[in-house]
Amino acid sequence: MALAKATAEQIKDLAARYPSRQSAIIPALWAAQHEQGYVTDEAMHEIAEHLGLPPSLIEATASFYSMFLTRPEGRHDVVICINAPCMLRGADEMVAYLERQLGVRDGGTTADGAITWHSTIECLGACGGAPMMQVDHRFEEDLTPERIDAIIERLRTTPASHDAEPKRPSPRPRAKKSQN
Ligand code: FES
Repeated sequence: MALAKATAEQIKDLAARYPSRQSAIIPALWAAQHEQGYVTDEAMHEIAEHLGLPPSLIEATASFYSMFLTRPEGRHDVVICINAPCMLRGADEMVAYLERQLGVRDGGTTADGAITWHSTIECLGACGGAPMMQVDHRFEEDLTPERIDAIIERLRTTPASHDAEPKRPSPRPRAKKSQN
């Protein structure tokens, strides 16, 4: 699906705003994701064209940063940390509980399309609140089964995170998925 005219114009404006066109890649990817929910191959090629850069550079950036989605996912994104400090505070039990409640395995999307979740062995930087998970770029800490139930309930009844203005956290390399 081609980008909307307004998004294409926004990307052209971005290209003119920065001294280096490479600096416009991340905001351009945000613009595409904000419009379409994720960044399609077609959108990446369009971005490359508007910025005058090789498509491989756009693809490399989109795949490097975890906040860019390159395939359709649930309306909300849940990442639960299973690094050592979180594990010592019960992350394994929380993962098992989350999986049971959502009814899909790590990497899957719930049948109602509300939530895509996965675990990560990368520390998410909130060990003080372990066990924790990241929900649409916000941290949910000190998880318990009751807290997980409340979060799931909230997510099932709230609109897509990408319906709101995109949040712009510091770019973070894509986390590796667990091998379970
Ligand atoms: Fe889980 Fe650091 S180990 S946030």
